[in-house]
Amino acid sequence: KNEINIGLLGFGVVGSGVATILHKHQADLIHKLGVPVKIKKILVKDVTKKRDTDLPYDIFTSNPDEVIEDPTIDLIVEVIGGTIEAKQSIERALRAGKGVVTANKDVMAQFGQELLELADDNKCDLFYEASVGGGIPLIRTLEDGLASDRIRALTGIVNGTTNFILTKMKHEKKTYEEALSEATELGFAEADPSADVDGIDAARKMAILASLAFSTEVRLENVFVRGMKDIQKGDLELAEQFGFTVKMAGSAKKDDNGIEISVEPVFIQNSHPLASVNNEFNAVYVYGDTVGETMFYGPGAGSLPTATSVTGDIIAACRNLLLGVNGKRLHAPRHPFIVKKDTQIFGRY
Ligand code: HSE
Repeated sequence: KNEINIGLLGFGVVGSGVATILHKHQADLIHKLGVPVKIKKILVKDVTKKRDTDLPYDIFTSNPDEVIEDPTIDLIVEVIGGTIEAKQSIERALRAGKGVVTANKDVMAQFGQELLELADDNKCDLFYEASVGGGIPLIRTLEDGLASDRIRALTGIVNGTTNFILTKMKHEKKTYEEALSEATELGFAEADPSADVDGIDAARKMAILASLAFSTEVRLENVFVRGMKDIQKGDLELAEQFGFTVKMAGSAKKDDNGIEISVEPVFIQNSHPLASVNNEFNAVYVYGDTVGETMFYGPGAGSLPTATSVTGDIIAACRNLLLGVNGKRLHAPRHPFIVKKDTQIFGRY
């Protein structure tokens, strides 16, 4: 192969970031892979929409077949978001023998296991680093870096939008509505931001992380979830008076009896590092038998940080294609675990 062609599904906050990185860092990619990586087609809803891009007009199409069925396209990058349409596109791509890179936590939290098996059956790669923690490489860390350890717990902040809102309410005395609309303008919030504020987005990410950390299949419905809508300005002030900060925190724990996973508003002591994780930043603590306690911190949302994880996956998938080892990943068998409800790590809000 003397070049790798990509089909991009979606050109929103993340998709446009992927195009920017592939363009700006083209020389670096050629240096790392030996061949150029090019976007051949981009699937969008409306091809006539005015877009702030130098990409040629005819790269855009509203016909999924022109991307997924194009025999010259080697790799599909799914950044449409949503569930049903995105899942079907991923399935079609894998069945057509194309590797897939996705940023889709909705799909991976609900159908991750099934899709990874489909990828294996079709000897294709399916990478999803950008589905959790925006620009923090957490998935690969759990899959590879910490693979030899026995992970006992994960705790942290895994939604940028709610953390941004709580930060703005606390430090800039903004209202919930003002802060949410700012998070939406900056491209942090989901298309339907209730997924963020109701804790569902974080629950999806905790399900993905817990599945990897505990080698089991955790689904969205296994996560105990409470959103942030009941939090009042006065609650934040009261917390402050007592030396606490209110955060939306996720937690997953495993013991001999099973695993417990939750997402909810919690009080965190101001001396705890999570209390000073602000704006759209995320931070995740991992507790393992041999590694001890390790913390991962970085931007949890936003165009370029999230697109960095997507393009990292693109490089990994391209390398595998060039080496002819795509789809030859070994997935550890998943253990059945009893999922218990209602875990509590920090003081409950
Ligand atoms: N809406 C998500 C968040 C985007 O705010 O964290 C990144 O997954």
